Amino acid sequence: MDGNGRWAKERGLPRTEGHKIGAEVFEKICDHCCDIGIPCVSFYAFSTENWARPQEEVAQIMDLLRHWLQKAEERQEENRRRGIRLRFIGEMSKLPDDIQQLAQDAQKKTKAHSNMICNLAVNYGGRQEILQAAKRLALQCQRREKDPMSLTEEDISKAIYTPEFPDMDLLIRPSGELRISNFLLWQSAYAEFWYSNTLWPDFTTQELDKAVADFAQRGRRFGGAQ
Ligand code: IPE
Ligand code: MG
Repeated sequence: MDGNGRWAKERGLPRTEGHKIGAEVFEKICDHCCDIGIPCVSFYAFSTENWARPQEEVAQIMDLLRHWLQKAEERQEENRRRGIRLRFIGEMSKLPDDIQQLAQDAQKKTKAHSNMICNLAVNYGGRQEILQAAKRLALQCQRREKDPMSLTEEDISKAIYTPEFPDMDLLIRPSGELRISNFLLWQSAYAEFWYSNTLWPDFTTQELDKAVADFAQRGRRFGGAQ
């Protein structure tokens, strides 16, 4: 979800206003993904690199996340009706305690919902995720639960944050940037990319539909020949 800051700047507003609208758009797009039958969607909310932003902006983003989680009760009804399961991916232990608690509650409350999984990546980094998986597997090898030479790609897929999810199919990158920015590196190995110049606060359900329709036209060969 990129371009919140530029969106605000274009309007002479503080960056936080962009983040605020961005959070509303996130909800709308998440619901729409569920409505059109997408089984799993992941949103990049805050990266391990975003801590480098001015402290005030980081605090404001955390506040937004806190408020969003606090109003989870209203949201809970919507999630239940739609069947959206909420999951957090990232190094959650570095977040303020109350946010960790709220996030855990939200995960618990939506655990049984089975129409769509919504992953919210917070303090997430793709390299960090792979590093953690490597450590976990190394420990298992040390305990002789696994043989290092017999490790498979599937072992890594199971050791990362998203063990129960399939690989990513479609990666949508808004705001005109043409880079992956450390997002779901392992999972996106064969993802189809879709770029858009739209700043995230202006992103619409129609644009999502366009991306999905475009994706449906692509010939995916996964390295094979047609
Ligand atoms: C994305 O918008 C939100 C977060 C990374 C939290 P940006 O804040 O990166 O917006 P730009 O890139 O400055 O426009
Ligand atoms: Mg940005």
